[in-house]
Amino acid sequence: MKPTATPVDATLGATITGVDLANLDDAVWAFIEKAFLEHALLIFPDQNLSAKEQVAFSNRFGDIEILRGNSKSVKISNEKRKGATFKPDEFRFKALRGNEGWHLDSTYMPIAAKAGVLSAKVVPSEGGETEIADMRAAYDALSKAKKKRIQGLSAFHSLYASQAKIGHIVESGSGYGYHTKGAPLRPLVKTHPVTGRKALCIGRHIYRIPGMEDDEAVALVDELIEFACQPPRIYTHHWTPGDLIIWDNRCAMHRARPYDFSESRVMQATRIAGEAASELAPTFPDERAGAFEPATTNR
Ligand SMILES: [Fe+2]
Repeated sequence: MKPTATPVDATLGATITGVDLANLDDAVWAFIEKAFLEHALLIFPDQNLSAKEQVAFSNRFGDIEILRGNSKSVKISNEKRKGATFKPDEFRFKALRGNEGWHLDSTYMPIAAKAGVLSAKVVPSEGGETEIADMRAAYDALSKAKKKRIQGLSAFHSLYASQAKIGHIVESGSGYGYHTKGAPLRPLVKTHPVTGRKALCIGRHIYRIPGMEDDEAVALVDELIEFACQPPRIYTHHWTPGDLIIWDNRCAMHRARPYDFSESRVMQATRIAGEAASELAPTFPDERAGAFEPATTNR
């Protein structure tokens, strides 16, 4: 087997074949790491990794962010139990609906994520795709005037705020992301810590830009998202059970596409923790959370 990277029809993303992610040697790992930095999104068909194997592969990139309990991998699913799915008034349903908005992972935590890994176990007959958008190419494509307009601007990110936008009001302590560490303030233009390329750091978790009215800030960010997430900068992954994808969260946004919730969709996710040197942001009081308890770690 010879590892091969075949770019997909977008400004980011490559399909990787000729590798067995459950049995990586250092030479193949070096190939994958280089491809990850170049393409920002890698698609590995037909891998069928167990949770343990996915964690081991993810650990090649760094530490894992613990999202629930003590588990390094989490099930992202609309299944409450076999044969029963979450109903619209349930918390998990609203969390899944939130994932349908373009976002970066963990920008609402003190340390944003480095990368996201997702693999498919059960997929619905239609819909339920994952889309990834290239924030490097999006930045490059902005007009000179728009680049000048956003240069030097920073924005507050909060999961309370992004869920509130879809009518989901959440108490602090209700789950990962609903913390009292404050809202991180992140520049709208981010320089990638390894490649040095500039990328837009935007997404649904933004609710405020210092120096602007909130409505104006959200309108500006929505306009940037709308512009950024257009062909040729987006890739849509139509899942087959066994597929695995990884994206570079430092320069690529993602979202889930809707599907018929009466059908099951079961995904296995691992989130790779960002390195504090490049992903840690200062935090400030978030009025939707409880008493402000600043922290420089996510736990
Ligand atoms: Fe996500």
